[in-house]
Amino acid sequence: MAAAAATSSFPSTTPRARARTSSCSVQSLASPRSAALRVNAEPAPAFQSVTAFAPATVANLGPGFDFLGCAVADASLSLGDTVTATLDPTLPPATVSIASVTSPSRPHLAARLSKDPLRNCAGVAALAALRALGVRSHAVAIHLTKGLPLGSGLGSSAASAAAAAKAVDALFGSRLARDDLVLAGLESEKAVSGFHADNIAPAILGGFVLVRSYDPFHLVPLASPPGLRLHFVLVTPDFEAPTSKMRAALPKEVAVQQHVRNSSQAAALVAAVLQGDAGLIGAAMSSDGIVEPTRAPLIPGMAAVKAAALRAGALGCTISGAGPTAVAVIDGEEQGEEVARRMVDAFWSAGKLKATATVAQLDRQGARVIATSAL
Ligand code: HSE
Repeated sequence: MAAAAATSSFPSTTPRARARTSSCSVQSLASPRSAALRVNAEPAPAFQSVTAFAPATVANLGPGFDFLGCAVADASLSLGDTVTATLDPTLPPATVSIASVTSPSRPHLAARLSKDPLRNCAGVAALAALRALGVRSHAVAIHLTKGLPLGSGLGSSAASAAAAAKAVDALFGSRLARDDLVLAGLESEKAVSGFHADNIAPAILGGFVLVRSYDPFHLVPLASPPGLRLHFVLVTPDFEAPTSKMRAALPKEVAVQQHVRNSSQAAALVAAVLQGDAGLIGAAMSSDGIVEPTRAPLIPGMAAVKAAALRAGALGCTISGAGPTAVAVIDGEEQGEEVARRMVDAFWSAGKLKATATVAQLDRQGARVIATSAL
C-alpha cells in the first residue's frame, strides 16, 4: 500500500478525550458496575464500512467572523465532500490510512491532496475520532471524494473533516457526543486552515451555529423557523484565496466604535436567524465593517460583485468564509438565476475572473451517513 498509516496516539486536545485518558485504566475498564466506565470501554465495530456526506459551509456571514456559520447544500448534494471509512485489518491497530482521494468534477484537484493521514483533513479528523472513541484494536482506511473546490471559502477542509469524523464514529456505533465530533474536526481545521470552528460546527450540526467560546467549548445551534425562505447564491471565481493568506491580512487592532458597530450587526444577525427574518439576515450580513473591507480588495472584482448582487435584488452579500466565493442571500429561489448571472458578469467585468454559480439552500442536517455495509 502506498499510503502511510498514522497512529491515533498523539496527544489529545479534546476535553472529553483528555478526561477519558486520565480517568480510565485497563483494570477499571473491566468493571461491569459503572455506567461511566462502560462508556469508556473500547467500542466494537458496528459496520464493515460507512459512507458519510458533509455539506459546504458559509463561515462568518459578514460580522460573525470566526463565530458564526451555516451549512448549505444543493438538491444533488454536489456541494460537499464524501468519505467512506472501512475497517482494514492489514493496517496496524489504531491507525488510519488514506486509501484514495478522488474529485470527479475536478480531476486535477485530487492529485494536490496529500495521502499522508497527518497532512490530510479527513485523515487528521479520522484519527481524532478514533482517539476520542478509544479505539485501540482496529484500523481504518479512508476513501475521500471531494465535491468542493480547495481554498474557495466554502469550507472545503471542514467538509472533508466532518465527513471523516462522522463516518468513523458511525463505523463504531455512533458513540461520540455532538461536541466530540466537532472537536475531532476542529483538530483537523487547526492543522490545516486555522483554529476556528465556524465551518466545522455547521458542517457537523447543520443549520446556523454560533460558536460562543472555545474554552470551555460552547456551541449554540440557532434554530431558524422551518418556514424561513432563504436561498444562498454562491459565486466562486477562478481564483484561490488560501485561508492563511486571508487571515494574515486581518487588522491587528480594532477601534471601539468599529467593535460596537460590528457587534450590533452580529447580534442582529443572530436575532434575525431565530426570528426567521430574511431581510434582516441580509442587511446584517452585508454590514461587516472590519473583516470584509480588508479582504475584499484582495479578491479582484469583489466590491463590484457585491454591488451587482444588491442591485439585482439580493437581500445581502458578503465574502463566504475567507473567500474568494461571494455569497448573496435571496428569499425566493426564482430570483437566483438572475442574481447569479449579474454576480458572475461582475466578476468578469470588474475582476477579469471567470466564475461559476450555485443556488443553494440552508442544509439543516449537517454531516450524515449515506451508506453502510454490514460486518
Ligand atoms: N472564519 C474563518 C476566516 C473561516 O474567515 O478566516 C475560514 O473559512
